[in-house]
Amino acid sequence: MEQNAYKTIIIGHRGAAGEAPENTLGSFQLALEQKAEALELDIHESADGELIVCHDATVDRTTNGSGEISLMTVEELRKLDAGSWFAAHFSAEKLPLLEEIFVLVPAEIMINIEVKCAYSDRLQQRLLQLIEQYNRLDSVVVSSFNHKILVKLKRAEPQLKIGLLYSANFQSHRQMAASAGIEVYSLHPAYRLIDAEDVGDAVQNGLRVYPYTINAEDELKKALATGVSGIITDYPGRLRALREAH
Ligand code: G3P
Ligand code: MG
Repeated sequence: MEQNAYKTIIIGHRGAAGEAPENTLGSFQLALEQKAEALELDIHESADGELIVCHDATVDRTTNGSGEISLMTVEELRKLDAGSWFAAHFSAEKLPLLEEIFVLVPAEIMINIEVKCAYSDRLQQRLLQLIEQYNRLDSVVVSSFNHKILVKLKRAEPQLKIGLLYSANFQSHRQMAASAGIEVYSLHPAYRLIDAEDVGDAVQNGLRVYPYTINAEDELKKALATGVSGIITDYPGRLRALREAH
């Protein structure tokens, strides 16, 4: 990432969620085709302890099934169609396992894993075990709105890269990182919270700033002008074109 000629990396939100069913292999594949340099995804834990890539706690919105992921087994979850709700030709898409993303995505692409589910020892063990098995410690950033989960994960694996997610702040981005009580790799603020001065201050102090989720062209241009380290977007291709013109 840091070797990239551009200052601002392209982070595909739930893959390329503007043009494919979010958080599916098809969506991540499309984001890679559009040359995203990083991918953001959300995880939940199934009843039998597997890490499932899905934004919501239930499968209702993004599959043809219904129910809580935490109460369903992998076998039940894998029967669901996770693509037709978006467009008929995506009907073969399934709810991916996190492991499948590690297999699909080349090592040089950063994977931002957003933990949506509650903390459990089983979640921690499975997540850290998969990261180790696939040799992803350098190319994974784990983020969450639940900062207590991040503190626990960082204590369990001190080399893990941590991203602080937040949608409100009453202090500068740099102070936000300092108040976490752990080493923070990146800050992931809601994009309306960023301005050039505050971003510059954080970046000059060794932090990366990855605002979410910016899709409109004028907002993407504004964010590029602040000098952010990356932008989380549903449209990686759109951001690429704007970044080249910037
Ligand atoms: O990780 C950035 C962004 O995905 C956070 O919000 O609701 O889209 O997961 P959400
Ligand atoms: Mg997310």
